[in-house]
Amino acid sequence: MIQYSDSINFDPHQLLALFKQADWACDRSLEDTQRMLAETDVMITAWEGTKLVGCGRVLTDYVFRASIWDVIVDRSYHNQDIGKGLIQRILTHSSLAQVELFWLCTRRYQGFYASLGFSDKEQTGMVWDRRKQPPLPPPWP
Ligand SMILES: CC(C)(COP(=O)(O)OP(=O)(O)OC[C@H]1O[C@@H](n2cnc3c(N)ncnc32)[C@H](O)[C@@H]1OP(=O)(O)O)[C@@H](O)C(=O)NCCC(=O)NCCS
Repeated sequence: MIQYSDSINFDPHQLLALFKQADWACDRSLEDTQRMLAETDVMITAWEGTKLVGCGRVLTDYVFRASIWDVIVDRSYHNQDIGKGLIQRILTHSSLAQVELFWLCTRRYQGFYASLGFSDKEQTGMVWDRRKQPPLPPPWP
């Protein structure tokens, strides 16, 4: 039976193992992942016993906007409604009840998100990727 949690008190090595299955996250380090966990506003995880089998996380102002990141289900657990369970628990999380608009970017799985009520008709996005930029002047201030 799959159980869901919003606690970040778990071994981050398990998260790294999930990240390895996603092309955008497979190079993440333990140190960066630990800092990310500490700074993430809402983290939802899915567990079969002590095995982490899915995750999704939110950055938000708790009122106007929330963005959803790193929705990943272990590939041997796909198509068991775990991804849906993660997104539903994000959208109904008590701390996010006032959020007006949830935003996410995805190049794949539009069908998955559309089945959960997401639309690609209203929003456009642009991205600034530090890894693709020339070096910047020293940080301000
Ligand atoms: C996308 C992902 C999270 C879906 O997780 P999942 O647990 O397999 O999905 P679910 O079983 O909860 O599926 C929920 C619904 O979406 C549908 N769905 C799942 N994958 C889909 C896809 N690739 N395209 C269209 N619909 C899809 C399912 O049929 C199901 O519909 P239903 O409720 O009508 O039966 C999973 O495929 C994944 O981890 N992919 C790799 C990481 C990734 O690319 N994440 C998205 C980046 S934003």
